[in-house]
Amino acid sequence: MTSASLDRLLALLVVAMAATGLLTLRAGSPDTGWVYVAHGLLAGALGAAVTLKLRASLGRAVAGRRWRRLALGLLVTGAVAAALSGGWLWVASGDLLSIGSWTVLTLHAWVGLALVPLVLLHLLPRRWRLLRPGASAVRRAGPRLLSRRSFLAGTGLAVAGLGAFGLTRAVELVRGGERRFTGSRWLPRGGVPPATTFFGEPAPPLDPVAWRLEVRGRVQRPGSFTLAELRHLGEMEALAVLDCTSGWALETAWRGIPLDTVLAAAGMDRDAASVTVRSVTGWAAVLPPADAAHCLLATGVAGRDLPVENGAPLRLVVPDRRGLDWVKWVTSIEVA
Ligand code: HEM
Repeated sequence: MTSASLDRLLALLVVAMAATGLLTLRAGSPDTGWVYVAHGLLAGALGAAVTLKLRASLGRAVAGRRWRRLALGLLVTGAVAAALSGGWLWVASGDLLSIGSWTVLTLHAWVGLALVPLVLLHLLPRRWRLLRPGASAVRRAGPRLLSRRSFLAGTGLAVAGLGAFGLTRAVELVRGGERRFTGSRWLPRGGVPPATTFFGEPAPPLDPVAWRLEVRGRVQRPGSFTLAELRHLGEMEALAVLDCTSGWALETAWRGIPLDTVLAAAGMDRDAASVTVRSVTGWAAVLPPADAAHCLLATGVAGRDLPVENGAPLRLVVPDRRGLDWVKWVTSIEVA
């Protein structure tokens, strides 16, 4: 493989890892399991491509005394190694591995995201044209793309991908680990979920007496509900899995008002296209109206009132979506 095509491949693999990684944040139903498999298979290919790149470039950079490029190259390599080993450790350790208050899964994702600008910075000065090859370059490269050498390189990367994927699972099996298809590790069933926020920020100040749920948009009776009025509409209990993108999953009982009961009380238009459930923090989840039938606006969890750090007075429970969509501290619903 030429040095230029190796650079192109590396950039492509890093972007593909970051993209499939980002997709996992919204992939909570079993039919999205392919995203996780793709992420896992690409990882071994990236490991192999970085090893090839190191072998090809390290000696040349030292001999040419290109210290700045060498330093940036080593920084990129270190970050790739950290993201890869974080991901593999997460799978193979069989444990909910953490460093301080951060899970290894979260740390690997942040390093992975930081890699995208780093790789572009590393490749931009010399490789910009190669990352965006013109028509003539593509014509010239055509026969090479189909050559025996590129076929062997492709097969090698596929074997590396499958090999790393299989090996990490074999080690996990020996260590007795168990994950959901999302990679999250199960917490013991039942109980109150750990309180997590995206950056570890505290719960927002909320006066439970003054609090109201506002319902507006394409509804016949826009207005607001107190907690007592909502409860009066009727509560129910349902088992649901909260799958946090930091890497844990918990099946527990949630008590609350069905979202479609609230929408019916407000008189949602029959041909509404979306329901946006928003937090006092501004965070929101957008749902197709059909999904509202499966959602709860929770006031309790595991047989007790919902703790403030878990989203009281009202938290959205959305089966088959990851924790990011389980909006806490809900204050408004907008129908569009
Ligand atoms: C260049 C960037 C990245 C690299 C090199 C990387 C690497 C890895 C590796 C090696 C694994 C283990 C794969 C397996 O054997 O299944 C993994 C798993 C995972 N990664 Fe990444 N990752 C990157 C970016 C991200 C990002 C940005 C996110 C999310 C925002 C993410 C989310 C995940 C998840 C949820 C898993 C667990 C999948 C499972 O257990 O099957 N990754 N990653």
